[in-house]
Amino acid sequence: KNINPTIIVIFGASGDLAKRKLFPAFQNLYLDGRMPKKFQIIALGRAEKTDEEFHNYVLENLNTFSRKAAHEDNDTDKFISHISYLRHDIDKEESYQELNTKLDSIDQAFGIRANRLFYLSIAPSFITTISVYIKKIGLAANVKQDRIIIEKPFGYDKTSAIALNEMLSETFKEEQIYRIDHYLGKETVQNILAFRFGNSMFEPLWSRNFIDFVQITVAEEVGVEERGGFYEGVGALKDMIQNHLLQILCMTAMEAPASLSADDIRNRKADVLKSIRRIKPEEVDHYIVRGQYDAGFIKGNPVAGYRQDKGIAPDSKTETYVAMKIYLDNWRWQGVPFYLRSGKRMQEKQSSIIIQFKPVPHSTFAYGSEGMTPNRLIINIQPAMDIKLQFMTKKPGLSLSLRPAEMVFDYFSCSTMSPEAYETLLADALAGDPTLFMRWDQVEQAWDAIDTIQQVWKSTAPTDFPNYAAGSWGPEAADELLARQGHAWVSNTPV
Ligand code: BG6
Repeated sequence: KNINPTIIVIFGASGDLAKRKLFPAFQNLYLDGRMPKKFQIIALGRAEKTDEEFHNYVLENLNTFSRKAAHEDNDTDKFISHISYLRHDIDKEESYQELNTKLDSIDQAFGIRANRLFYLSIAPSFITTISVYIKKIGLAANVKQDRIIIEKPFGYDKTSAIALNEMLSETFKEEQIYRIDHYLGKETVQNILAFRFGNSMFEPLWSRNFIDFVQITVAEEVGVEERGGFYEGVGALKDMIQNHLLQILCMTAMEAPASLSADDIRNRKADVLKSIRRIKPEEVDHYIVRGQYDAGFIKGNPVAGYRQDKGIAPDSKTETYVAMKIYLDNWRWQGVPFYLRSGKRMQEKQSSIIIQFKPVPHSTFAYGSEGMTPNRLIINIQPAMDIKLQFMTKKPGLSLSLRPAEMVFDYFSCSTMSPEAYETLLADALAGDPTLFMRWDQVEQAWDAIDTIQQVWKSTAPTDFPNYAAGSWGPEAADELLARQGHAWVSNTPV
């Protein structure tokens, strides 16, 4: 695609996200010929640095974090020459004046008013200040050309998200605001739509008539790493469920969009969020389980408990695990439980969607000791990237007994090229395609769906924390949540 000349302004360019994700993503897009022909990256940071110093810093980090090694490639040097560093104080007007002068001079060099993409890779508390100055100095005055990318968390509950959005709307129109949920940039998450609506075989079964329950897991082996200070005030419900898991839920449960236009797709997703049954405060304990990890072992290595991690209070009440049962009040899904769970320090890294079909209406066969396994469709998002269909077959032999088997599609069997989520999302933002970004009503509905849980948890501290060992699959209560309904978490190991 022919993209207009673009200036990318990164606030927080010396930060963690920029070094791990943003610069590698821009570099890879550049090496793949996906950047605009004319572009400039303005890296903003608090420290005094020369361009050369910043270039060396970026280069060093590309060598560590980029999927394409920097040192083997002259083109990486060319990419780096598109970056200029500007010292910036977020709360000083002069800094924005200087930025304005810089933007103008680049426009002049390009011989055209370039598109402007402002990337806010900073703590959420700075969003307001930056947005106010952008408006005051008129840095993003062109609705068709200027865009802002905002990282999550977008607010910390529904009320704060509404306030933040209203404030942003004074500077930017909705079509200029790109709210990132990086899970939507993952290949295997986008493949859910392709799989569901590019085939005729599964969709007729995709409803309460044939599906017993749906299970969505995003499990991580890592703990809170260096982000303890941030995570303490957030927790798994806001860090993972409100955004990543609810978005995966949308892709799994949505109706077919009328077209692939950004709004058609986002309308159908918003419908799912609206249809999530809102629960009453007294029901929270019945539908949701929270957990916090204790010391334990991950793949045989001892790891500390959450409360011993850096930056964490010794009596912390923050949850590092959530499991919940959700019902969608609509025709397709009435009565089908959606079980969602996400946790840190789990037994293994695994993100998956498991669709479990109803049992056969009548058992004709005599089963071996293995018993009967329900039909399942398993969509593995990461690190495995595959789709499995599990079914029963005849066990080879003289008697007619059954055993489970599976068919597997490996996403990489058709290609080895897998862009990082951030590459996909940045390419879309450069091209002005908001499909994979969160529209305001999605964010608002997602907060609305979890607001009651947050309120109840805030007013009633957990009494049993820590309640799961690092390296386990979470607290026992999460098993009971499913057992009450005669269900169990399905493990993802081959049959
Ligand atoms: C982020 C969360 O949004 O997603 C992190 O803030 C989490 O806590 C991360 O570790 C997981 O992303 P991925 O792409 O590694 O699954």
